Amino acid sequence: MNVLGINGSPHREGNTAYALRYALGVIEDQGIETTYISLAGKGITPCDGCFVCRKGECVHEDDMGPIYDALRRCDGLVLASPVYMGLVTGQMKTMMDRTVVLRTGGRFELTGRVGGGIACGGFRNGGQELTLQSIQTYLLQQDIYAIADGPGFSHSGAAIVGRASEDAIGLQTVTNLALRVARAVKQLRGT
Ligand SMILES: Cc1cc2nc3c(=O)[nH]c(=O)nc-3n(C[C@H](O)[C@H](O)[C@H](O)COP(=O)(O)O)c2cc1C
Repeated sequence: MNVLGINGSPHREGNTAYALRYALGVIEDQGIETTYISLAGKGITPCDGCFVCRKGECVHEDDMGPIYDALRRCDGLVLASPVYMGLVTGQMKTMMDRTVVLRTGGRFELTGRVGGGIACGGFRNGGQELTLQSIQTYLLQQDIYAIADGPGFSHSGAAIVGRASEDAIGLQTVTNLALRVARAVKQLRGT
């Protein structure tokens, strides 16, 4: 069993990195292997909408290659993004768009995985919820079971305000989400 975490921040060691690594640590404590990918510095060409991928593969050969492999391998997925102008970063959205190849031509390669989102914003009400909803919409379009942080708070997923390491409530939502992802992966894989 493997849970893949993808960080959509341009900062390798920013708040999103802290929150995502925190989540993956909780998941590892549940006996599940994790993989961490940062989109910082990656060369990922935006989707051209050419739909050549309907025949099998994307026309672009770039840093998406290992990300496709990791997505195909994973049982669970945690997408973590800073809030940029109320939504996911361009890096995260470009990565999402390029994964259309995994759900085209009648194939849904990620069917049956589970996934959740982490949003890190500088401000309270800065757009964390819409960012989480855009992540959930992506998961649903990939036929991935989207889950949120669940009780005790049970809102849209894990949301951080300001410095991640100092946001105790935000980190509690990260823990809650991670535990639910771990539990769902185990249930789906029958262990
Ligand atoms: C271009 C840009 C747009 C931003 N827009 C928002 C926003 O709409 N709402 C918000 O709460 N924070 C916003 N922020 C702040 C970041 O979300 C925040 O600093 C976050 O913790 C950065 O995560 P990182 O350290 O992982 O890169 C923005 C930052 C940048 C650079």
